[in-house]
Amino acid sequence: MPFPKDFTWGAATASYQIEGAASIGGRGPSVWDMFCRIPGRVYHNDTGEIACDHYHRFKEDVALMKKLGMKAYRLSISWSRVLPDGTGKVNEEGLAFYDALIDELLAAGITPWVTLFHWDMPYALFLRGGWLNPSSPLWFADYTKIIVDRLSDRVQNWFTINEPQVFLQMGHVDGTHAPGLQLDWPEALRAAHNVLLAHGRAVLVIRERAKTPALVGYAPVGGSFIPASESPADIEAAKLVTYACFEKTLWSNTWFSDPIFFGTYPEDGLKVFGSAMPTVPSVDMDIIRQPLDFYGFNTYFATRIRMGETLPEEAPFPPGSPHTMFHWQVTPEALYWTAKFLNERYKVPMYITENGTACMDWVHEDGKVHDPQRIDYTSRYLKQVRRAIEGGVDVRGYFHWTLMDNFEWAEGYRQRFGLIFVDFPTGKRTPKDSFDWYQQVIASSGEALGK
Ligand code: FCB
Repeated sequence: MPFPKDFTWGAATASYQIEGAASIGGRGPSVWDMFCRIPGRVYHNDTGEIACDHYHRFKEDVALMKKLGMKAYRLSISWSRVLPDGTGKVNEEGLAFYDALIDELLAAGITPWVTLFHWDMPYALFLRGGWLNPSSPLWFADYTKIIVDRLSDRVQNWFTINEPQVFLQMGHVDGTHAPGLQLDWPEALRAAHNVLLAHGRAVLVIRERAKTPALVGYAPVGGSFIPASESPADIEAAKLVTYACFEKTLWSNTWFSDPIFFGTYPEDGLKVFGSAMPTVPSVDMDIIRQPLDFYGFNTYFATRIRMGETLPEEAPFPPGSPHTMFHWQVTPEALYWTAKFLNERYKVPMYITENGTACMDWVHEDGKVHDPQRIDYTSRYLKQVRRAIEGGVDVRGYFHWTLMDNFEWAEGYRQRFGLIFVDFPTGKRTPKDSFDWYQQVIASSGEALGK
């Protein structure tokens, strides 16, 4: 049996993308609420004000999760729903929402996996400098305390931060995501360092205060690189690039994971960033380097790499290669090769914590949503997970991105990633064909994938 019986089959979402009720129940604004208000920053000027209205419909959503047979659900908490000002006074109504959600999940036999930060920093903290403020790791630790004290009697699985690469690079350097900053490298690297410190401090808080045994990890995205052929030279080239930080960008696996797992920034990255890198006291690195229980690997597509004359180089995809609605290449091997390379380097159990595809879905004349491409995409990627497990990579779970169509950040509502179709004007949910398919995959522990 390639997928072990206790393999964690799940799906993932994030607070700002699904909850809605952005101005309800005492919630304070996050940087995403404010970003959405700037005309032209988000496709169609869509906002997360209502989103899937999961805040009001969570019971219906958990019932669908139960129907799907999900064993685990990865959700995130809206920091500004719990602490409207980011620090200080707790909003009891916000905490009560998460309490009720966790209870509903447990009653349905679904294990919650809680992400503390999926990009929606309280706007009040942004006004105090956001991740540039040296106190930001302490703010995050205080917020973590509140959540752990309230939920850890029932929650055992924790992620600190989701995809630092994305919210730092796109939100703080490119300016295409909230908070829309375009910082120079000395400031961007400082913000990134504070995020790493926030991670470390949050792990310490969870370890100190959790009321039940905790599994702690984080969910980076970095870059996925696959060899253009299975020649030893190309495989080595793809591995080198997976571990590299060779240009000025935060799209790097090692820039974040090396400090977290080894307590050091990668040498090549330090060279590239040069004098832009702030001086970092070694005590910071001790805080950042906390033992973790798992590596959460988020991946959607990979770049093809081959060995050039002396150095690895990108091998362009052949013309007409398959890509998704997001124009991301379909590269299932990312879940074999990149999982293997990352597992070899960081050596902790791995969970695939996000993977999925946007498709051009709509409700067909027969009232159903037929999404054969999502089924094919997911089937191919899951077969590579199976290959990784068979090859000895310690992959213990798979969380599909995502449970239901939702607010896809700067893309608004035009990218539909869900197993469940959401009609946004009415909130009506319609499980897609892929929902039925994934249900069978889970029920058969992956047997339904076939050869
Ligand atoms: C990831 C994000 C997630 C979702 C998917 C499509 O980068 O973590 O929230 O938007 O991409």
